[in-house]
Amino acid sequence: MDLVRTKEELRVARAAIESSALVGLVPTMGNLHAGHLELVDRARSQCTKVIATIFVNPLQFGSGEDFSTYPRMLEQDSDLLMGRGADLLFAPSVEEMYPRGRIDHTNVTTAHLTSMLCGASRPGHFDGVATVVSKLFNLIRPHVALFGEKDWQQMTLIRAMASDLDFPIEVVAVPTVRERSGLALSSRNSYLSDQEREKAPLLYSTLVGVKEKVLQGDSRYGFLEQEACAILAKSGFVPDYVSIREGSTLKNANTGSTDRRVFGAAHLGKARLIDNIAIDA
Ligand code: PAF
Repeated sequence: MDLVRTKEELRVARAAIESSALVGLVPTMGNLHAGHLELVDRARSQCTKVIATIFVNPLQFGSGEDFSTYPRMLEQDSDLLMGRGADLLFAPSVEEMYPRGRIDHTNVTTAHLTSMLCGASRPGHFDGVATVVSKLFNLIRPHVALFGEKDWQQMTLIRAMASDLDFPIEVVAVPTVRERSGLALSSRNSYLSDQEREKAPLLYSTLVGVKEKVLQGDSRYGFLEQEACAILAKSGFVPDYVSIREGSTLKNANTGSTDRRVFGAAHLGKARLIDNIAIDA
């Protein structure tokens, strides 16, 4: 696997890939876990070349968030990617990606999807994601780009962005990888203390509880959402939201919706955990 750090090196490496190749992109911020490696495996199975990126994108962190402390472990991550059969790794610096600085940079926004759910408590976050992913799409020109379902809102807005901006790229959603406890794998799980780690699966089991009640015919969605937040709060989480939405539009779901999902986000100690599961098959 080749590692390139500059856009110019990337251009040269990308140009060397034969034009008949089907190129899959796995964008990450590093600190890789089995969920990321699942994206690489999936890319390998669907594509002939796999390009991974590692870039801790300052645009998607708010002030007071963990940009400066986000774990950076390029050597270990690069070994993992190589072991999984990635062909090329692009790991640029902030200056390489944003030479005019983060403030003056042109932004991409998908307004209708950014201000709800996680966007409500992380203003600017999804514009930062849309901006960096559109740059990676332009630089790498993949045919397929793979994203984890744990970040469903992110995946949905990237799909919308790719369609709205006419990127000829298939956005593939890969199911969330979980610990046996149900806890969704996340780079930020490393912020949890041992005690918090034991509590953390409650986010998933609470969402499962909501799903079961909805499938049993309970249509009091607002009540179920509040009840779920109360369960989390009682166990020491600081809930941000639990919300029953339509998976494709992220609009509030109703009993007539056919692709309902339940989404949850909550702080536990230093970690902000998110998760979501399908209600409808
Ligand atoms: O999901 C992530 O790791 C990031 O949001 C992404 C998609 C790599 C953009 O920085």
